[in-house]
Amino acid sequence: MPRLRFNLLAAVILALVTSSSTAQTNKLFIPETLSGPIYNLNMAPSLHSFYPDATTATLAFNGSYLGPTLILEKGSDVQMNVTNQIGEPTTVHWHGMHVAPKNDGGPHTVIADAATWSPSFTVLDRATTFWYHPHLHHKTNEHVYRGLAGMIIVRDAAEAALALPRTYGVDDIPVILQDRRFSPQRQFVFNGGGIGESGNTIVVNGTVEPFLEVEAGIVRLRLLNGSNSRVYQLGLDNNASIFQIGSDGGLLPAPVELTRLRLAPGERAEVLLDLSSSNGQNRTLMSYSSELLRGEPGGVNLGPGGPPPGAGNIDGTDFQILEIRVSGSSSITSIPTSLIPLEPILESSATRTRPMILNNVPGPQGALAINSVELDLNVINEVVSLGDTEIWSVSNATGGPHPFHIHDVQFQILDRNGSAPPANEQGLKDVVLVYPGETVRFITTFEDFADPDTPYMYHCHFLGHEDGGMMGQFIVLDPNATALERSLLPEGDFLLSNYPNPFTDWTTISYSLDRDSDVKIMVFDAVGREVKTLFEGRRAAGANETIWKAGSVPSGTYFVQISINGKPRSHAVQISR
Ligand code: C2O
Ligand code: CU
Ligand code: CU
Repeated sequence: MPRLRFNLLAAVILALVTSSSTAQTNKLFIPETLSGPIYNLNMAPSLHSFYPDATTATLAFNGSYLGPTLILEKGSDVQMNVTNQIGEPTTVHWHGMHVAPKNDGGPHTVIADAATWSPSFTVLDRATTFWYHPHLHHKTNEHVYRGLAGMIIVRDAAEAALALPRTYGVDDIPVILQDRRFSPQRQFVFNGGGIGESGNTIVVNGTVEPFLEVEAGIVRLRLLNGSNSRVYQLGLDNNASIFQIGSDGGLLPAPVELTRLRLAPGERAEVLLDLSSSNGQNRTLMSYSSELLRGEPGGVNLGPGGPPPGAGNIDGTDFQILEIRVSGSSSITSIPTSLIPLEPILESSATRTRPMILNNVPGPQGALAINSVELDLNVINEVVSLGDTEIWSVSNATGGPHPFHIHDVQFQILDRNGSAPPANEQGLKDVVLVYPGETVRFITTFEDFADPDTPYMYHCHFLGHEDGGMMGQFIVLDPNATALERSLLPEGDFLLSNYPNPFTDWTTISYSLDRDSDVKIMVFDAVGREVKTLFEGRRAAGANETIWKAGSVPSGTYFVQISINGKPRSHAVQISR
């Protein structure tokens, strides 16, 4: 005890003398847990004490900042009662969970102010760490920044049979990483726009300068990058190994030993730290952000505009995240050698490859886009057939990285630029960071939840990019869906396809119109250069077709953009010769 007091005093003195203190001063807050079958969540404005000298206005679920950790059992039926008292509409999305689109909490499932949304569903996912957060279009960046987010832990029998730490808050620790910027009055500084908020103050579970007390033994951290736009490069201060045991969608086949773990917004990683011989010592979880790429969000800023490192800016610097104080001893002292096997989905089982090009809307200063179009909530960008296994090929044609996220499914990464992903990315994922010039191919099966009415989303998880429209929508459609079901597609929507695809010389582009319309059909290349105008004029309601004879246009991915009464939608096509 006297020694602890001495450390605290030393920390205070040090903090007064230098701006970078080495000891952290606040005990890490551990969110309370809620267990099923009924989960009551109430979103409301609140006040949170990040600092002893003032309170900060926040939004929160149930408490003063963030929300409770939801403990779910695989196979159980749950009901969520989500009440919105924040004074404006929002939504709540169960990020990573395999639920029907109506239960997914995407931008279409708006919870009006003062309303309660009560989805119920069966927990189908394997044991893992998910999270929940608002998803209202144009508002996600702000609602998350102000404090609306929480962790979800799914448990199952297979995980329970492993010799892993699983006492919540004791040796199984939620670690929600966020960065915030505070005004001199200790209020959140929120600017909006751009890539999404970033800050110069790390908060973990809502605690600034946190420390965690654990017993000497194996400690499990459930890391969630809940930042709006910051990538972290995690490591221990003594460069000791971290053993990653889980990725977004579940446990890995075996622990992966790492000294650095890169975590992009939306991603989760479960890791084990071996602190069994660290009794009486302190370790610090760091972000070695000087190792991030120049221009990577969280790395050294590109060009003018951003403040230089140092001057109130932590980008590109190495900083502390969580101090871990070790004392006593725990009973779990070894890292298991194997975890949960994962059956690889075979590439040969895929019915198609769907290109997803991260790029810009064609034209000067076009906004960030996927497949050349921004989100239009009335347009279904992709239609997937129920039961199909597909490869999604995500290529980044922009100058910066983007964390690509898909709803509904967990995927397996096939390759990054043709090479197998690192071992810690060979598990189930729902977010993948894609670097400029890179193509990441992943494979997944759309086994459940055909619904012609409500789309699922895919998007960049930098929340400013997401709000800015770097997002698309897909529906899962029963291949036997009737014409009536197809006609239930959101109003003004239409199906756009081409055959054959890929093609060598020509392809037929088919689309349907719900009324007579002015139509313009253009082709762009992957970086948004115009290739050709195929048609411009009036077309009648119903099914329509246009043929593209590609002539000498080289092999590659192109976008057919159809503007209907001035509203563009686009579709990727491939020439392969
Ligand atoms: Cu974490 Cu579409 O979201
Ligand atoms: Cu999600
Ligand atoms: Cu992005």
